[in-house]
Amino acid sequence: MSETSPKLRAELEGIPTYKPGKPAAAGGPAAYKLSSNENPYPPLPGVMEKVTAAACSLNRYPDLACTALTHELAERFDVPVSHVATGTGSVGVAQQLVQSTSGPGDEIVYAWRSFEAYPIISQISGATSVQVPLTPGEVHDLDAMADAVTDRTRLIFVCNPNNPTGTVVRRAELERFLDRVPDDVLVVLDEAYREFIRDEEVPDGLTLYRERPNVCVLRTFSKAYGLAGLRVGFAIAHEPVADALRKTAVPFGVSRLAQEAAIASLRAEDELLGRVGSLVCERNRVVDGLRAQGWTVPETQANFVWLRLGERTVAFAEACERAGVVVRPFPGEGVRVTVGEAEANDIFLKAAGEFRNGM
Ligand SMILES: Cc1ncc(COP(=O)(O)O)c(C=O)c1O
Repeated sequence: MSETSPKLRAELEGIPTYKPGKPAAAGGPAAYKLSSNENPYPPLPGVMEKVTAAACSLNRYPDLACTALTHELAERFDVPVSHVATGTGSVGVAQQLVQSTSGPGDEIVYAWRSFEAYPIISQISGATSVQVPLTPGEVHDLDAMADAVTDRTRLIFVCNPNNPTGTVVRRAELERFLDRVPDDVLVVLDEAYREFIRDEEVPDGLTLYRERPNVCVLRTFSKAYGLAGLRVGFAIAHEPVADALRKTAVPFGVSRLAQEAAIASLRAEDELLGRVGSLVCERNRVVDGLRAQGWTVPETQANFVWLRLGERTVAFAEACERAGVVVRPFPGEGVRVTVGEAEANDIFLKAAGEFRNGM
């Protein structure tokens, strides 16, 4: 066999690998997975029916343009159909946005730590990541992000609420930031956790997009709508950007099952958002419980909480796993814990309390 291997792009060297949340071990002590910000509720029966029916035509390609879903979204959000672009999860759409705007020599600005896909998709495109540290309060430092913009900046991600800290940026500061960003730089408001927000000062990104052609909003069916396994997300953006997303989409990437399930979920929104309401109550209970134990917990508006544990991060994650819940450690930094079903949250709170007593 030849010793020579095919030439691969140099940009791929050193790309951090995406670490999925660890699954709960079958038969092991850890029965609950709180490591991927998933929705703990199973699909609604009506959604399952649609998916099962769609499975009968698995021999056919899906609708390339996701026509029915796109129309449904346009109506739901009161935007032109041409402003909606779907993709394989919002991470797929985020990658298309990067591909559409940035290549070698260009810069992509985002807060750090934030969603771990941002450095990966930036590096794949050959662009340079410009990571702007969060404030000591774990919030996007929008002034520093605006200062970081240069003539090479092509795209800025604002993750609101931020993964993994759950923190938000509010209307006045976001508008001030957008006023400072040049019109030819695309600002992507990643609102994967939008439905969990209860802080009224956090703007709906769509209100900002309506007034600003350089703002694009990213949403997903993976979190509040509980369809993470089906891979469907979307962007709402002005036509040039939405057109670019249609050009960069993987053909037939969104399966018919995903399209049908997404439509059925939009039509069952009241029930799904009711579940989100229950998760928000659980979130508040978890945050209050942790604070009562003495932890510093940043204000979270998402379906997870963040504990900055530094060197204790891995030990804490191991203690949780022994107790029965798998959490998401970022070694040396902290632990992100998804709000799950009440039993899982109880186990987590107990484990956190015991860990704290032993510190
Ligand atoms: C901030 C943020 N954006 C996007 C995504 C991607 O979600 P999906 O590709 O499932 O839509 C995630 C997933 O964890 C996320 O946390």
